[in-house]
Amino acid sequence: MSRDGFGSKLGIIAAAAGSAVGLGNIYRFPCEVGNNGGGAFLAVYLLIVLCLGVPVMLSEFIIGRRAQKNPVGAFKLLKPRSGWPVIGYMGVICAFIIMAFYSTVAGWTLEYIVKAVGNDFQGKELAVIEQEFSDFHNQGWRNVLWQFVFIFLTGFVVFKGVADGIEKYAKILMPLLVIILLVLGVRAVTLPGAREGLSFLFHPDFSKINGSVVISALGQAFFSLSMGMGVLITYGSYIKKDDNLTSTAISVTLADTLIAVLAGVVIFPAAFSFGVQPTAGMGLVFSTLPMIFNQMAGGYFFCIIFFVLLAVAALTSTISLLEVIVAFFVEEWHLSRRWATVLASLGCMALGVFASLSLKSGSGLTIGGMSFFDRLDMVSAKILLPIGALFIVIFVGWIMGKKTFNEEITNEGKLKLSVKGAIYFIIKYLAPIAIAIIFIKGFF
Ligand code: PFF
Repeated sequence: MSRDGFGSKLGIIAAAAGSAVGLGNIYRFPCEVGNNGGGAFLAVYLLIVLCLGVPVMLSEFIIGRRAQKNPVGAFKLLKPRSGWPVIGYMGVICAFIIMAFYSTVAGWTLEYIVKAVGNDFQGKELAVIEQEFSDFHNQGWRNVLWQFVFIFLTGFVVFKGVADGIEKYAKILMPLLVIILLVLGVRAVTLPGAREGLSFLFHPDFSKINGSVVISALGQAFFSLSMGMGVLITYGSYIKKDDNLTSTAISVTLADTLIAVLAGVVIFPAAFSFGVQPTAGMGLVFSTLPMIFNQMAGGYFFCIIFFVLLAVAALTSTISLLEVIVAFFVEEWHLSRRWATVLASLGCMALGVFASLSLKSGSGLTIGGMSFFDRLDMVSAKILLPIGALFIVIFVGWIMGKKTFNEEITNEGKLKLSVKGAIYFIIKYLAPIAIAIIFIKGFF
């Protein structure tokens, strides 16, 4: 059994930030802001990240580093002969579910790289770009093909253990993504009519806040930070005993939030300027962005670089998802890393086909009136991740207890941390109560 196939040498901040920063920030975040009333959603989102982001992330790191195992094995080890491993199993199932629809969108980034290289957007009207985007969905199998390519790439990296190399690139490429977003932001806010977009994002209309907005914000926060399903438990198991868990959690949370807000600053001013509805969902990113590039000096190159970076950001996230499943297969089912990767990838493809094809108009692939794609997204972000996170903080606060918490967070007393009492209080009382209330209110 090997625990060093992935990540033993990689910078944990780079790996965790690589998992966190992805399509969730640039694609899903603007969709959720647009569908949940703009500024009001952002306000709730920031509040949730501020109060729950660091405590939940820390809890996952603590479980992982303490146990040195995958999520199922970790709960088995830390609380033998109990029902807790169920939370680990839930995480593995959730990884399959997220992989299935996430890889659909990740596949689009590949299609859009090809389009960008072919200068396909040049001089086109918004309506044409939108039409081509929906035609692309209706081609069904073309989506599936790109999706499979993406899953294959992910499997290749996870199997080869070249994640180490990927993370090194990511360390350079992700700051580059921030720079490009800044450049795009400057272009977007100087477009005619951009003000309205900024005001949509930053002027909260608090009357728009209701249970559904709050649970969407909670789900988006957990999704974006990769929390609640064991990715960070798995990564925590690779963190060295002398790494500082708290500062890692703070850096990752800050970086992830910054990039999401930045994406909003690019998308909404541009969308309002071009007349794209903030509720346009997928079209918000895949139609608005090409329009911005069309209005920019050097837009051709920026467009290519942007979609390449987006694909890399997505890849570092899918790697983390697949790694959860692979670590589970290797350690609990005693498969070789090769077969674990093959099996995990095939499983993701099998479920993923339905996600991709369900976006075809009239495909009939719906569950309860929602496309299979949207249903997977909803079940994972709004149900499984909050439940997972709830039990994770309960586990650290009530089962592992204060002594273990203190040992992990101070590296056995080597680090001084004046706020450790406060963090423990949040993990033990505030976080579980807050998550439970939001979850119950949001649903019933
Ligand atoms: N956090 C990733 C993103 O924002 O794109 C998506 C993700 C990765 C969600 C890993 C959950 C996860 F476990």
